[in-house]
Amino acid sequence: MKTFEPRAIIEPFRVRSVEPIRFTTMEQREAALQEAGYNPFLLRAEDVLIDLLTDSGTGAMSSRQWAGMVASDESYAGAASFYRFERAVRDVTGFKHVIPAHQGRAAEHILFACIAKPGQVIPNNAHFDTTRAHVERQGAQARDLPSAQSLDPKLNHPFKGDMDLDALRSTIEEVGPANIPAVMMTVTNNAGGGQPVSMANVRAASALARSHGIPFIIDACRFAENAWFIKTREPGYEGVAPIDIARQMFSLADGCTMSAKKDGMSNIGGFLALNDDEVAARCRNLEILTEGFPTYGGMAGYDLEAVAQGLYEALDEGYLRYRIRSIEYLGEKLLGGAIPIIQPTGGHAVYIDARALLPHIPAHQYPAWSLNNALYLVGGVRGSEIGSVMFGRQPDGSERLAARDLVRLAFPRRVYTQSHCDYVAEVILAVAAQKADLPGYRIVEQAPVLRHFTARLQPIAPAKP
Ligand code: F0G
Repeated sequence: MKTFEPRAIIEPFRVRSVEPIRFTTMEQREAALQEAGYNPFLLRAEDVLIDLLTDSGTGAMSSRQWAGMVASDESYAGAASFYRFERAVRDVTGFKHVIPAHQGRAAEHILFACIAKPGQVIPNNAHFDTTRAHVERQGAQARDLPSAQSLDPKLNHPFKGDMDLDALRSTIEEVGPANIPAVMMTVTNNAGGGQPVSMANVRAASALARSHGIPFIIDACRFAENAWFIKTREPGYEGVAPIDIARQMFSLADGCTMSAKKDGMSNIGGFLALNDDEVAARCRNLEILTEGFPTYGGMAGYDLEAVAQGLYEALDEGYLRYRIRSIEYLGEKLLGGAIPIIQPTGGHAVYIDARALLPHIPAHQYPAWSLNNALYLVGGVRGSEIGSVMFGRQPDGSERLAARDLVRLAFPRRVYTQSHCDYVAEVILAVAAQKADLPGYRIVEQAPVLRHFTARLQPIAPAKP
């Protein structure tokens, strides 16, 4: 007898607790979407069959995480749960100061309020929406420096999340190091398609920033998925464990912001981690004001426990292999059906290029919004628009089209199975088969910042031929 190399990459867990999902009719979904102002963010989750709105805080926790939660210490100050959390974050990231925060944007708020001043510039491979909003809130400019390879959705490049290093160099020359309080690197690059950043690019960007005395900060939300791509795509890392790749990456930085709702495998939580004593002290003072005492920072003791365990589970090789493969599997099915997606598939989501799929909807009528609503109407699947509704409104109130209009189908961690993926692919193909019937949309109500969360829209009746 001998063993064999399986082709099937199975879910590396058994399910011990299940949660029913609710089937609805298309008529029910039509009514629900209309009630929600044609904004899927405003739907009730119970009206959604497969929820791919986000991979943030939506994952299933492990029995070990639940065990830690039951045994948590809820002391206000100095809780044992905090010290377990701090030990885990230090073990993985190596940073000296660990400042808990209730989620990623809270860490961003504290960091940028303490380091950014009006008129300054923060370069990033690509800011996510909350990061950008926190930079702009301080009157600073959030500047995206994506690599040239990221601009071609069909190009099969291993590290499309990389930063354009020439652009970073010229930004530093143009505005001067004194006007750049930090260079940020987002791993994986969410706004750019969930694409990974290579260790070589992190190293070079870090060296460039540090050679000018500028701190280099990682937006680490999906650091474990990024480590897996480095392991499987970057020469020299094949035999290195994901945790050691992560440690190496963090060693190149002066700090990180983290949403533990992603690769912390938790439903809530996050942290800011820093090496600089003086900046950390300022951040802790603000934290007390906005998040709470520095040994809980907006989290319950049980949340700290869930993150302390979750950081290690996110770095497990068997888990990462399954995780990245399930995204790739859906991507393959869509490419087989000639659906334009960002290639190669990224870490946490499949991104459909709605502008390419729906050329009859002009960009200012939000084709990705339209596609996303159609996925819900036809099959009860909820994704999210990453396009001009999300990014189009400028701080001065003017409107500028986003570079792309994408529908992101983000997978909660350890929640859906292969047959759920098969179903999602069927829904997308069914929508594509009737794509000429999809309408454009216009916004009828919107907030001044982060409008996509609460905007209300109306379909625009297609012009009669
Ligand atoms: N940075 C990145 C790259 C993110 O993707 C997110 C959140 C944040 C920061 C903020 O973290 O939500 O804990 O405050 N992204 C979620 C998403 C919301 O759906 O991609 P948060």
